[in-house]
Amino acid sequence: MARLNIALGQRSYDIVVEANALSRIAEHIAPWTRRGRSLWISDSLVAAHHWPKIEAQLASAGIEAHLHVVPAGEASKSWAELARLVDWLLAMGVERSDTIFALGGGMIGDLTGFAASIVKRGCNFVQLPTTLLAQVDSSVGGKTAINTAAGKNLVGSFHQPKFVLIDPQVLATLPPREMRAGYSEVVKYGLIDDARFFDWCEANGVAVLAQQPDALERAITTSVAAKARIVGEDERETKDRRALLNLGHTFGHALEADTGFGERLLHGEAVGVGMVLALLYSARRGLCDARDAERVAAHLSACAMPVTLADAGVTADGAALVDHMRHDKKMSGGTLPFLLLRGIGQTFVAHDVDLDDVAQFLDEQHRIAAQAPVS
Ligand code: GLY
Repeated sequence: MARLNIALGQRSYDIVVEANALSRIAEHIAPWTRRGRSLWISDSLVAAHHWPKIEAQLASAGIEAHLHVVPAGEASKSWAELARLVDWLLAMGVERSDTIFALGGGMIGDLTGFAASIVKRGCNFVQLPTTLLAQVDSSVGGKTAINTAAGKNLVGSFHQPKFVLIDPQVLATLPPREMRAGYSEVVKYGLIDDARFFDWCEANGVAVLAQQPDALERAITTSVAAKARIVGEDERETKDRRALLNLGHTFGHALEADTGFGERLLHGEAVGVGMVLALLYSARRGLCDARDAERVAAHLSACAMPVTLADAGVTADGAALVDHMRHDKKMSGGTLPFLLLRGIGQTFVAHDVDLDDVAQFLDEQHRIAAQAPVS
């Protein structure tokens, strides 16, 4: 069991990582319930796995539990589901000092967090993440959002949860591909500023993916501690500090856009390929050794994750991929901040990247893949 804290003054909160925490749910959430009742948001798949046990425990503890179920899938991060959720909360008579419980992956956390930030001009919410990606990344940090026709996460708010409860045991029901996709965000923390943690990942990644309890708990705790530290230093991404968390995301976002933001390439898979591309591009600019890129690609490959454009199923040329980047919400004054590396554990924000040069680099990556011997 680990208890971490994210230091944000009055918005500080604890993050507890505890195997089987959901079997002590009433005890964990009791401080956040009022009037003997609790309001829960989950998705159809997660609710099917976990809700009956949670509801029974809350009933034994005398806590009334009401559940709103959202259809599973990224498509639910929408105006329509937001409206349904807000209407439900209002119909339940939610008050500003009530706490809303978000039980699910990134979609549920983002949608619930955004609803909590606007209902009655802001209610409390608690995150109970059920995917590895949500446990190590999206449940912590306070960014909430929905998607619109213009793009992903374009409407949202900064609204920190009051508490995050992470139970690694719930990952037992997660499909292995989702587990691997979440693992790329674990590796990311090693690449950002903790080379020793990347060494640890190389030695223990397979055990993490096999959900060996000690390895999994250490991966989650180290990742969350890193995220809490970085967010604590730059909550609203106004310095170049929090932007480090976007490593692999600019390339990754373009790959996701090209493959339709869906099952063809999961977000975490796109981030993994994006991190390898960031390293290869950094090496091409003479910033780091090409062997660093090879080392990271070898580790992700050993974990059965995609590492090249071809692995990601991306055929679009450099110009088309860069065009997706030009619509990135981080675009400012005609330039896009890029996360580059001087080596493993030495990520920095570059403000001088020429997108035409990135397009050429991506075309080179396609050519290199076309010339590679078929194994
Ligand atoms: N909620 C995700 C983040 O703040 O990074």
